[in-house]
Amino acid sequence: MSDRYAVFGNPVGHSKSPAIHQAFAVQCHQQISYRAILTPRDGFAASVRGFVAAGGRGANVTLPFKEEAWRLATRLSVRAELAGAVNTLLFAGAETLGDNTDGAGLLRDLTCNLACRVAGQRVLLLGAGGAARGVVAPLLDARPALLWIANRTAARASDLAQRFAGRGALAGGAYQELEGEAFDLVINATSASLAGELPPLPAGAFASGSMAYDMMYGQGETPFLAYAREHGAARLADGLGMLVEQAAEAFYLWRGVRPNSAPVVAMLRGTERG
Ligand code: ATR
Repeated sequence: MSDRYAVFGNPVGHSKSPAIHQAFAVQCHQQISYRAILTPRDGFAASVRGFVAAGGRGANVTLPFKEEAWRLATRLSVRAELAGAVNTLLFAGAETLGDNTDGAGLLRDLTCNLACRVAGQRVLLLGAGGAARGVVAPLLDARPALLWIANRTAARASDLAQRFAGRGALAGGAYQELEGEAFDLVINATSASLAGELPPLPAGAFASGSMAYDMMYGQGETPFLAYAREHGAARLADGLGMLVEQAAEAFYLWRGVRPNSAPVVAMLRGTERG
């Protein structure tokens, strides 16, 4: 019988995780099954318990359960502890290990797939919610010259900067404070794209040769990437690579083998076009 894995979320119907993990399993000759479980908003812990009782070995967790998963885990990896959110669970006997592979996924996509340098660069992170919080420590570990966090609710950005103070050169505040500042890498970690909206970013934020990265992905260009292209960003990337890389990291945790992500990204891009 194959080992069982799943992704818990709400909504979860359009999740690409089942296709990604099935592709990894074929590539790495692993016998697994992986499905999406639409989880009632007030029923996350019960759903996870049911899945474990039925033989579940591990799970991914997506919106809106990443913080609840953090509380549910009996043991946390250092990076999950820092992120305050869990996207990967590993069930081992009585223990539930919680990990967060989002930050590692972003950094791997940036540095390995996109050959984008972070060390010594001026980096701007837009947003201060769960998605942003998960990538602050890994970004700082890559030693940028400065990591600036901007958010619509300025206090959340300052709080986030405070939380990671001491790990690197960090600033946090409102979008208006960005006036006159330019960045080599601008990462959108807001959920604005979901509503077809745009964070209020000053037009001069993109330095010459800069890269714009949207952690969201979807069909066509997101509003953020369209704005970035019109305002001088030299390179654009959406979050599909990050999605596949965070999955590869979870697969490695579960199975002890690291899949090759490039053919899976190519497969998903092909599916999108088709
Ligand atoms: P997630 O876990 O996806 O980060 P979240 O915690 O709800 O979700 O955070 C959403 C982020 O997107 C926040 O930083 C939010 O800004 P506020 O803290 O001011 O709410 C940001 N956001 C959402 N819509 C936005 C918009 N239209 N313009 C700018 N920022 C937006």
